[in-house]
Amino acid sequence: MKLVKHIANLGYGSRKDVQWMFREGRITNAAGEVLYADDPLDHDDVRIDGDALDPPPGLLLMLHKPVNTTCSTKDRGRVVFDLLPPRYRLRSPALSTVGRLDRDTSGLLLLTDDGQLLHRIIAPKSRLPKVYLATLAGDLRGDEAAAFASGTLMLEGEQTPLLPAELEVLGPRSARLTLHEGRYHQVRRMFAALGNHVDALHRERVGGLTLGALPAGEWRMLGDADRAQLFAS
Ligand code: URA
Repeated sequence: MKLVKHIANLGYGSRKDVQWMFREGRITNAAGEVLYADDPLDHDDVRIDGDALDPPPGLLLMLHKPVNTTCSTKDRGRVVFDLLPPRYRLRSPALSTVGRLDRDTSGLLLLTDDGQLLHRIIAPKSRLPKVYLATLAGDLRGDEAAAFASGTLMLEGEQTPLLPAELEVLGPRSARLTLHEGRYHQVRRMFAALGNHVDALHRERVGGLTLGALPAGEWRMLGDADRAQLFAS
């Protein structure tokens, strides 16, 4: 791939914009020598205004999604992409959320530009556990764990029963729920099916990955060790 296209694909501007950056001598190698648009691509050696390039395609990152942000790119309100560097929204291949969390759900959200990886994480057969902390409007009845574990619970409007899920009761109105699939509004609908209502929802784990000490609204790039941990669950 041509250097100019690579840089444009990283979100630094249109190809025309990037051509201008070359003409202005803003794009150099690490030694400070001016580069030209059709020079061979050596990602790690390129500098723009002296700064290294953003990482090449193949990104996987985790975001601690706060409440009141949506995973959609089109929403008019606050979207999760607002929490990332602005250039990341313009990258090609595009960075997408791995599944979605509702506006009112906080917690661990993965984003990647690697379609195969995304598919591997969300494919039903991967059955990666997703762990949620739910705070409920009403007291637990006591039969929820058995109902969720049964493999026969049916959500309204659906044709296939839910896979067995594990519920750990933490208090009269709080529980940890581990799912092995990801249906639309699944946690909220599961509790609604048993006559309760989820007041607050937080995802604390996907596969073997947790947020650790990452504060709400912050993100971090994931490396090979994190990827291994993701699938080691
Ligand atoms: N289940 C839900 O109901 N909402 C989420 O955001 C995630 C899982």
